[in-house]
Amino acid sequence: MKLFNVYPLFDITPVSAKDVHVYDDKGIEYLDLYGGHAVISIGHSHPTYVKNINEQVSKLGFYSNSIQNPLQELLAKNLGVLSGCETYDLFLCNSGAEANENALKLASFHTGKKKILAFQNSFHGRTSSAVAATDNSKIVAPLNAQHQVDFVALGDLSAVAAILKQEETCAVIVECIQGVGGLDENSSEFYQGVAKLCAQYGALFIADEVQSGYGRTGDFFAFQKHHLVPDIISVAKGMGNGFPIGGILIHPRIEASYGLLGTTFGGNHLACSAALSVLEVIEKEKLMKNASDISEYFVKRATQISEVKKVKGRGLMLGLEFDFPVAALRKQLINTHHVFTGSSNNPNLLRILPPLTIQKKHIDVFFEALTKELKNSL
Ligand SMILES: Cc1ncc(COP(=O)(O)O)c(C=O)c1O
Repeated sequence: MKLFNVYPLFDITPVSAKDVHVYDDKGIEYLDLYGGHAVISIGHSHPTYVKNINEQVSKLGFYSNSIQNPLQELLAKNLGVLSGCETYDLFLCNSGAEANENALKLASFHTGKKKILAFQNSFHGRTSSAVAATDNSKIVAPLNAQHQVDFVALGDLSAVAAILKQEETCAVIVECIQGVGGLDENSSEFYQGVAKLCAQYGALFIADEVQSGYGRTGDFFAFQKHHLVPDIISVAKGMGNGFPIGGILIHPRIEASYGLLGTTFGGNHLACSAALSVLEVIEKEKLMKNASDISEYFVKRATQISEVKKVKGRGLMLGLEFDFPVAALRKQLINTHHVFTGSSNNPNLLRILPPLTIQKKHIDVFFEALTKELKNSL
């Protein structure tokens, strides 16, 4: 059997990793400014994470959701405290798409409606309604396209109002900072306006924090800067630092009932152990503050480079916009300078999503490489 060939691959084979570095099979050290799609939050192979997961798997790796699992209770408690969302309830699953799928399904159960409102350039994952709410027709199969989704431009409040007024929409799903789309963010006034319209016309406000959550922006959640109270918050990626886990935080006015949602693997013992370790390290090592501090340093250095036309994003969810496509630059950064960065829907944007443990000295390495490469390409 061979692999189903859906991923264009770089010719690099990582075999180990430590904090912000990845090492390949030839012993080459790479600086990871991409965190494997914004997944690595507390750094690769963090000792607390490794120890806790090792200990847990040697005791009990998995049992189904039909027994008591105190680790889930502890995860809900600790996540509530660190995020400031103590009053919410937690449902655990395995990925970002699954989190959004459950969020949309729950919104539909709760409101009895079936239309979704999403934003242009959005990315919410590849399961059925999550991909239907993703603004990329290339990854929407005819089966997924049966969902009724309206797309409006991020920032167009009157378009949101015109659709919600019809009272057929169960949920508005929004990435407060678009990730795959290219780091666009709108005003607090806009997001608050959307939330108000949701409340007025009986739709739920879903904050997709799969990429922007878990401290990446310097706040626990990106929406917090806009003083929003979402009905549902979806999380994944940084939540498990590479261990597959996702979840939705559900406002207490949405009621649970037995069987409403469910999963075999979601919230298993090993996943909880990974997620608890992440929260412990974020708090102990003050990684949200580090995200803010390093971001400030990064932005300062980026604005000194004339080829950088715009610095986008917040915290350690950043993008450098050039006036040329960055694909070749990105390749050179990896192959010549051994620095991983990311791409987005915007071909001119270099995405920076490092582990939240990153230090100024690593940022210096990146800018040295970038400056050299920009000079070489002149
Ligand atoms: C904002 C956002 N939502 C959802 C997803 C889907 O997450 P997953 O790939 O874990 O299904 C992603 C993945 O990139 C994302 O960036």
